[in-house]
Amino acid sequence: MLNQPKTGVSVVGSGSARLSSRLANDDLSRLVETDDEWIASRTGIRSRNLAGAEESLRSLAAEAGRNAIAMAGLAPTDIQLIILATSTPDDLFGTASQVQAELGAVHAAAFDLTAACSGFVFALVTASQFIRTGTYQNILVIGADILSRWVDWSDRRTCVLFGDGAGAVVLQSCDRDRLLGFELCSDGSMNSCLNLSYAPEPQSLIDEVTVQQGTFQPITMNGREVYKFAVSRVPEVIEKALFRASLTAENIDWLLLHQANQRILDAVANRLKVPSERVISNMAQHGNTSAASIPLALDETVRAGKIQPGDIIATSGFGAGLTWGAAIFEWGNAD
Ligand code: ACO
Repeated sequence: MLNQPKTGVSVVGSGSARLSSRLANDDLSRLVETDDEWIASRTGIRSRNLAGAEESLRSLAAEAGRNAIAMAGLAPTDIQLIILATSTPDDLFGTASQVQAELGAVHAAAFDLTAACSGFVFALVTASQFIRTGTYQNILVIGADILSRWVDWSDRRTCVLFGDGAGAVVLQSCDRDRLLGFELCSDGSMNSCLNLSYAPEPQSLIDEVTVQQGTFQPITMNGREVYKFAVSRVPEVIEKALFRASLTAENIDWLLLHQANQRILDAVANRLKVPSERVISNMAQHGNTSAASIPLALDETVRAGKIQPGDIIATSGFGAGLTWGAAIFEWGNAD
């Protein structure tokens, strides 16, 4: 009889990219009317990293991916699928294939997935389905964004919030499933709260035929609505994912939220009654790096030796779409 494929999911490696430029709150006050006190007290952010002229979405995503593959003890040729969560590709046709080529992951299929700041959680869950069906054994999931390309640097309501980054994890098949529960949600009726929209410009080709040739416009956001949405829907979606995992918030070793705003992190932790020492935050150094924020914060906490094999992590992404989701998983695959 043939060996049955292992269809349990484990998260066995993490990685992130090192960026070349750093912009502190005081630097921002040279661009717009703001100051460190306003930004830090409303958001928890002190500085953010930005992609320099030599960096691309491809190069950041590949660096994060390479580090995650190395931590997993694998070679790029062991990877069978790469999912790149991003809203800021180098190429609208997709950047994942360029990452695949740069890594030398010659056996991997690769595609982009867009769900804004929820992108990493959506990609993690998507990748897991390929493992649960026995299709693939090693999958690289990357979250990477260069929002600095699309921020209006003259709009103080948004430009203080965002940074650039890339993080990645390797998912591997195993006997016991460590993806304990998940829940994904969307509400397009609230789409206008947060946008990076294409603005079409009609261009007549011949008398009867007009096409649209425009460009994307800088990020717009209704901050108050996004805040209200996050503090109500994120605790709810985590509780649903915990319910599917037959766990409660008391069982969580680490609460790993999309790093949007320290006040959102605190409000969600309060609602779930998770003590602050179990809440992962790198807001102060990175700001909001969109799809990168969760794997970047995970990687920093793993490499700091805080997250141990077997620790239960509740993660939640939320953002434009609107989209939001949660996943409960155990780190590593040690028995
Ligand atoms: N510096 C100084 N003053 C500012 C700044 C700034 N950077 N930005 C806004 N202000 C001013 C406003 O002009 C306003 O002044 P006014 O009263 O004279 O008009 C005042 O501060 C209050 O502005 P609000 O927008 O009401 O500020 P609020 O208290 O709501 O805080 C913030 C704004 C921090 C954006 C908050 O709404 C928030 O955290 N929202 C969630 C946003 C978020 O996390 N988005 C990303 C999540 S989704 C994703 O990750 C893509």
